[in-house]
Amino acid sequence: MIANVDIKIEKTAHSRVSENDVNNVPFGKCFSDHMFIAEYADGKWQKSHIMPYQDMPMSYAMSALHYGQAIFEGMKAYKSESGEVSIFRPLENFKRLNKSAIRMAMPEVPEEIFMGGLVELLKLDAAWVPTSETGSLYIRPFLIATDEAIGVKASDTYKFVIITCPAGKYYSEPIKVLIETNYIRAVEGGVGFVKAAGNYGRSLYPTRLAQQKGYQQVIWTDGKTHSFLEESGTMNLMFVIGDTVVTPALSDTILDGITRRSVLALAREWGMKVEERKISIQEILDAHAKGEIKEAFGVGTAATIAPILGIGYQDHYMELPAVAGREFCNKVDETLRNIRKGKAEDKMGWMYKVN
Ligand code: COI
Repeated sequence: MIANVDIKIEKTAHSRVSENDVNNVPFGKCFSDHMFIAEYADGKWQKSHIMPYQDMPMSYAMSALHYGQAIFEGMKAYKSESGEVSIFRPLENFKRLNKSAIRMAMPEVPEEIFMGGLVELLKLDAAWVPTSETGSLYIRPFLIATDEAIGVKASDTYKFVIITCPAGKYYSEPIKVLIETNYIRAVEGGVGFVKAAGNYGRSLYPTRLAQQKGYQQVIWTDGKTHSFLEESGTMNLMFVIGDTVVTPALSDTILDGITRRSVLALAREWGMKVEERKISIQEILDAHAKGEIKEAFGVGTAATIAPILGIGYQDHYMELPAVAGREFCNKVDETLRNIRKGKAEDKMGWMYKVN
């Protein structure tokens, strides 16, 4: 169903698509021809438009810049061999955006604006959706506070925007991750469970310190005891320990990832044992010493499935089994890719057709 919303559409006079190899661009740096914008003022959503991708005219006093009233989503569209474009589980992103909006005292975006804008935008920019095996069009919806005001208060005006960019792999290689026990990503009662822009900004310094030690990412631990694992970088974290898929249980410090949910759904469908629970650093050290950790990987929209090569903890490094032999994450990666590209049956009804 395409939602009914009145969108003013201004098409570009000059498409840039032929100037770019959409199957071969760095992640997040090349933007498609058009963008969608809906504006909120006077207590209601006002006009919606699609226009050529362009810079934003804004005030240096814009409140999103000063106090971080800014939230976002990430999702992906795929093209099948026959040229059909479908988005992976967009209604889940729609719901999560509004969960984020409530927590950040922002107005919720109506479904007809989110879905209507998204579908019209993708129809217009369908040529930007990569056809390569691992390619997709990364979609970035975001909501920002736009009041020109320095006082700390919820803004009265907002913009909901969708931009898109063709994307290949987020990580070109399996990653090494360092368990972080000093800096934290999220605290109980905080905003770790939503996609607030500030969650990402605060992660950069600890990540840089880990990178200086030869790691690509950190594994965040809980803010109270620093002894339980939470997420890895911008991804949810999963292990296969023995014959069980184990992942940290959702809480208000962990993002309810849509890739996380999809991977767990497939594991359950395949009859695997799945545990969503607390995972302590000690458990990982012990399981590794006994050779029981078969797999570790991050899951997220941008990275999809990111195998973890090894895990550092203080001055200890835990090497994990070779990625090529990891049954579960390789099977899940291939299955998701096939569902998304229309090569496998979409039994769960995850793909939302655009054209
Ligand atoms: C995603 O996986 O889409 C993310 O949110 C990660 C990132 C690119 C911020």
